[in-house]
Amino acid sequence: MLTIQKNIPLLPLNTFGMAVNAPFLSVIRTVADCAHIKAHIPNHLPILPLGGGSNILFTQDPQAWVLKNEIRGIHLLKEDDGSVWLEVGAGEVWNDFVQYCVQHDYAGVENLSLIPGTVGAAPIQNIGAYGVEVKQLIDTVTFWDFNKETLVTLDNAACLFGYRNSIFKHELKGQFLMTHVVFKLSKTPNFNISYGNIQEELDRMGITTLSLKAVSAAVVHIRESKLPNPKEIGNAGSFFKNPEVPHTIYQSLKDDYPTIPGYTISEQVTKIPAAWLIEQCGWKGFREGDFGVHQKQPLVLVNYAQAKGSDIFHLSTRIIASVQERFGISLEREVQIV
Ligand code: FAD
Ligand code: EPU
Repeated sequence: MLTIQKNIPLLPLNTFGMAVNAPFLSVIRTVADCAHIKAHIPNHLPILPLGGGSNILFTQDPQAWVLKNEIRGIHLLKEDDGSVWLEVGAGEVWNDFVQYCVQHDYAGVENLSLIPGTVGAAPIQNIGAYGVEVKQLIDTVTFWDFNKETLVTLDNAACLFGYRNSIFKHELKGQFLMTHVVFKLSKTPNFNISYGNIQEELDRMGITTLSLKAVSAAVVHIRESKLPNPKEIGNAGSFFKNPEVPHTIYQSLKDDYPTIPGYTISEQVTKIPAAWLIEQCGWKGFREGDFGVHQKQPLVLVNYAQAKGSDIFHLSTRIIASVQERFGISLEREVQIV
């Protein structure tokens, strides 16, 4: 049943742990709910879809009608000798879906284990980790378009996926609610364990025969050792994107800072870890009152207890300014700011 709740605390609904209130909130469980809710939303009030609240920083009460996505279900749409196509409700918890695939021997998503949030948010910033991006696994996405008042399905190419980017952060922002994602997964694993220390972790675990379960467990262990658990310390994962710069700029930085890491993206472009730039500027482990920069991963800004969203936002502005001043690189925020 579609309900309208007023003045709802969002504290339990965002991993940064910001104590803000939504003026209106409705839980969306079906596509029909999307169609029905429109009549209740005043024209001047934008919608704010919310999944797990793990990539959002509230600096104030949202002046929006919050649509909490709880559209569920995992359905096998079709299969052939090599692949399965799964249609997944956007409100499914991402890591539950990953574990479902691992259990059923559907390969592709295992490196994306333990990323917080929902399936519906995954395409929005094209989630990625340990050498895999979700765009490699998406067949189509379906969303309710609140302007056109209809369901729209886009194929992978139309989503304009990029590094932590897609059409949903631009042209379609603010006018849609993702309802379903269709994933094409493989029946035969193609293990990707070259990133970072996955192999080292598998060795430590004593794994000699690779399996989806083992790779997933290795990724989970690595993540647990590096990233703060939002249940213990408020955060939204990487606060900034890793900057992509022209190769010539990277080379000249390397002349001044010989240890600067960089990953070649194309002949012209190099990606520099923002964590390194932030650490060099002295921010790693910084703490002021209840807000700070994580001790193990400086890309993650944290709320130790009762920091305000504006504290975290201003900290991010100071970090951007110091990286700009020292390296001439503009860091871009990855987290959605409200
Ligand atoms: P929310 O925070 O609820 O929403 C994020 C944005 O998407 C908002 O703008 C919201 O309006 C919009 N949105 C959400 N659902 C819908 C919908 N159904 N329809 C339309 N718009 C919607 N990300 C990575 O890519 N890789 C990582 O390794 C990673 N590690 C993380 C580790 C930690 C500890 C944390 C806290 C976060 C991490 N993240 C990572 C970020 C985050 O998990 C992802 O961005 C995730 O996809 C967010 O999902 P969510 O459901 O919580 O989205
Ligand atoms: N580094 C430092 N100091 C540190 C930590 C890291 O200098 O304290 C440097 C090192 O050079 C290291 C490099 O940063 O090799 C990369 O670190 P890491 O492998 O931890 O990854 P990241 O680039 O910091 C990205 C994603 C993460 C994702 C990991 C693993 C972005 C913005 N972040 O982090 O995604 O989990 O790779 O693939 O691309 C997220 O988006 O929220 C997120 C956590």
